[in-house]
Amino acid sequence: MKKRKLGSSDLEVSAIGLGCMGMSFGYGPPANKQEMISLIRAAVDQGVTFFDTAEVYGPFTNEELVGEALAPVREQVVIATKFGVNLEPSAAKDGPPLNSRPEHIRQVAESSLRRLRTDVIDLFYQHRVDPAVPIEEVAGAVKDLIREGKVRHFGLSEAAAKTIRRAHSVQPVTAVQSEYSLWTRDPEVEVLSTVEELGIGFIPWGPLGQGFLTGKLDVFDGNSDLRTTCPRFTPEAVKANLAVVGWLGAFARRKHATPAQISLAWLLARKPWIVPIPGTRKLKRLQENLGACEVELTAADLTEIESAFSKITVQGDRLPEEHMKLIDRPD
Ligand SMILES: NC(=O)c1ccc[n+]([C@@H]2O[C@H](COP(=O)([O-])OP(=O)(O)OC[C@H]3O[C@@H](n4cnc5c(N)ncnc54)[C@H](OP(=O)(O)O)[C@@H]3O)[C@@H](O)[C@H]2O)c1
Repeated sequence: MKKRKLGSSDLEVSAIGLGCMGMSFGYGPPANKQEMISLIRAAVDQGVTFFDTAEVYGPFTNEELVGEALAPVREQVVIATKFGVNLEPSAAKDGPPLNSRPEHIRQVAESSLRRLRTDVIDLFYQHRVDPAVPIEEVAGAVKDLIREGKVRHFGLSEAAAKTIRRAHSVQPVTAVQSEYSLWTRDPEVEVLSTVEELGIGFIPWGPLGQGFLTGKLDVFDGNSDLRTTCPRFTPEAVKANLAVVGWLGAFARRKHATPAQISLAWLLARKPWIVPIPGTRKLKRLQENLGACEVELTAADLTEIESAFSKITVQGDRLPEEHMKLIDRPD
C-alpha cells in the first residue's frame, strides 16, 4: 500500500483510508459488529493505516467499534475522530446543533479516548465550524490537548478558507476534511488552494459520491439511511444524475477498472497530499477500492474526465437544507 503525507506535517498514512461511519450509522441499520471488526482488521492486513470515525456516528457506537477493532494494532494505525456536534436532547431547540466550547471539546476528547481504547487521538477534527465559538478558541483548546499529549494533530471539517487560516495561525492544522468527489467540486473554489498554500493535507469524505458514483447504489432503507433526506438522492434527481454514472461506467470499462476505482484514482491524481477515505461494509469492495492506487490516469484521461463532467449538471444539493446551513461559507 502506498503512503501519503498530510501536507507538510509529519503525519504519514496509507494513500487510501477507511471511512468507518457507514458500518454503524447513516447508511441503514448498523452492520453486525463482529463482521465489521473483521473487516477493519482485514483493512489493516491490506495495508490501510488511516481510519475515520466521529463521536456523532451512532452516536458513540462507531468509535467503540473502531476502538475495539484496532486495539490489537494500535501502534500501527492512525485514528481520526471528530468533536463539535451537540448531542444533548435539547440541542435542536437551542440553535444549530453544535458545541465547540473549549470545555466541551475537552470532555469529548476524554470520552473519545475511552471509547477508542487509546491514550492519544492521532487526528482530532472539529466536525462543523461553530458560529458561536471563535475558531481561535477552538484551536487553542486543541492546542492545549496536544500539549498534554492527548491529541497529536488538529483537523477541521467543512471549514471555509478564512476559518482555516485563522485556526492555523493559533494551532497548525494538519488536515481538512470536506466532501469532494467527481460530482461534488465545492473545495475547488478556494479550500484546495488554501490548504496547498498552508501545507495542510486534504481528506475527501464521500469520495464515491456516498455510493452513487459506483453505479451500484441500491434502494435505501428509508428509516435509517441519511441519503433519503438528500435532495441529490430524490427519485427525480437520481434519474437526472444517471448521466454521471453512465459516463463513468463507459470510461471505467475502457480503462479496465471499475467506476469506484476511477473515482478514487481521480482524487489521488489531483494532489499528492489528498487521501480519500471511502466507506464500505464489504471486504470485496474494500479490496476493489484499494486497487484504485494501481489505476493510472494519464493527462489525456484527466482532461477527458474534466471535459465530460463540465457538460453534466448535477441535480440537487449534496446535503439536506438543515445540514447545508451548518456548512462554513466564504464571506
Ligand atoms: N466530515 C464529514 O462531515 C463527513 C460526513 C460523512 C462521512 N464522513 C466520513 O467519510 C467516510 C466516507 O464517506 P461516505 O461513507 O459518506 O461515502 P462514500 O465513501 O463516498 O460511499 C460509501 C457508500 O459507497 C458504497 N461503496 C463503497 N465501495 C463501493 C464499491 N467499490 N462499489 C459499490 N459501492 C461501494 C458503500 O456501500 P457498502 O457499505 O454496501 O459497500 C456506501 O454505501 C465516512 O465513512 C465517514 O468516516 C465524514
